[in-house]
Amino acid sequence: MRIAYGCFSFMNKIHFTTLPGDGIGPEVMTVCLNVLKALGERKNFEILSSSHDVGGIGIDNHGTALPESTLEACRKADAILFGSVGGPRWENLPPKEQPERAALLPLRKEFELFANLRPGNLYSELADLSPLRSETVARGIDVLCVRELTGGIYFGQPKSTQVLENGEEQAIDTMVYRTGEIERIAEIAVRAAALRNGRICSVDKANVLETSVLWRKIVSQSVARLDSSIELSHMYVDNAAMQLVRDPNQFDVMVTENMFGDILSDELAVICGSLGMLASASLGTPKNSLGFPFGLYEPAGGTAPDIAGKGLANPCAQVLSAALMLRYSFGMEEAASSIENAVKESIRSGLRTGDIAQGGNTVGTEEMGQAIIDRLS
Ligand code: IPM
Ligand code: MG
Repeated sequence: MRIAYGCFSFMNKIHFTTLPGDGIGPEVMTVCLNVLKALGERKNFEILSSSHDVGGIGIDNHGTALPESTLEACRKADAILFGSVGGPRWENLPPKEQPERAALLPLRKEFELFANLRPGNLYSELADLSPLRSETVARGIDVLCVRELTGGIYFGQPKSTQVLENGEEQAIDTMVYRTGEIERIAEIAVRAAALRNGRICSVDKANVLETSVLWRKIVSQSVARLDSSIELSHMYVDNAAMQLVRDPNQFDVMVTENMFGDILSDELAVICGSLGMLASASLGTPKNSLGFPFGLYEPAGGTAPDIAGKGLANPCAQVLSAALMLRYSFGMEEAASSIENAVKESIRSGLRTGDIAQGGNTVGTEEMGQAIIDRLS
């Protein structure tokens, strides 16, 4: 199914594949597409987007979490706008067939989505939502986590479970990194830091792991080569986990390997108050037809099965993910900022979905979406 929004033939077209997925995915995606459509009318671009099954709905309709037809549609597009996958209905499937693992990991591999950008933003208006002490986060939080996404222990070989001669079971995962994999993620961190406050903290476990010793060396060399004005520091991952709750704003850009980034980005998410506000971008090596990185853009919050289908979900993370898509895969910085400002202004005006309300009135998914649309510049 291809939906063309907009009506003027001279408009620029942006072409992406929409994968709403499960739970609250479809409802926040609908609102998100409405925001993009409204922005397109103001800024003169047209949306070419086709929607496909992924995750649990993929299993139900096609017998697999990542149907070939979905993958084919993604290959033809310039970016993927992803909702969320998984839910109680599919929880009893074997781990390898679960929607999260069977949809997200192959997508990351297929499109070499090696760079995962997870911005931790807490608006000062929402500071009370953070579990951290109010004086620590009074001015909000602004930290960018750059996570390596296609290497390390997630994908290293051998990866297996065997029965030993004595009858015990033994499982093996392998943590492995090559120079080139570290160089390319370091470069992403440098580019991001240059647009922010120019500081990078590289997180590793170089007191124990060989991969981390290599990581530290290559990150240092890459940063020195690419931009000597960047202030680079290194931190062990256990300390970083602690520092993030002690004083999050000591970090500007945090760059780290796959599994450490998985863990630290969830920690960053929770100190920023609500998963419903957190966007993320996964950028690939292949360039799209416009010469920008192909990317997958998704909210960090998951499917929230308890409120799915009720029109209560917070659409902000999905909408902010669309802003990242405009910025990174379509080079539309002004349009991206316009969305980000509209979200911020909606929050500033006092509107709250249930997940970010502290008493008082709450609005539903659509109303929040409309508030964002009303504030687009
Ligand atoms: C994430 C998720 C995934 C990961 C899971 C669902 C495989 O936790 O995107 O952070 O571990 O990368
Ligand atoms: Mg995770």
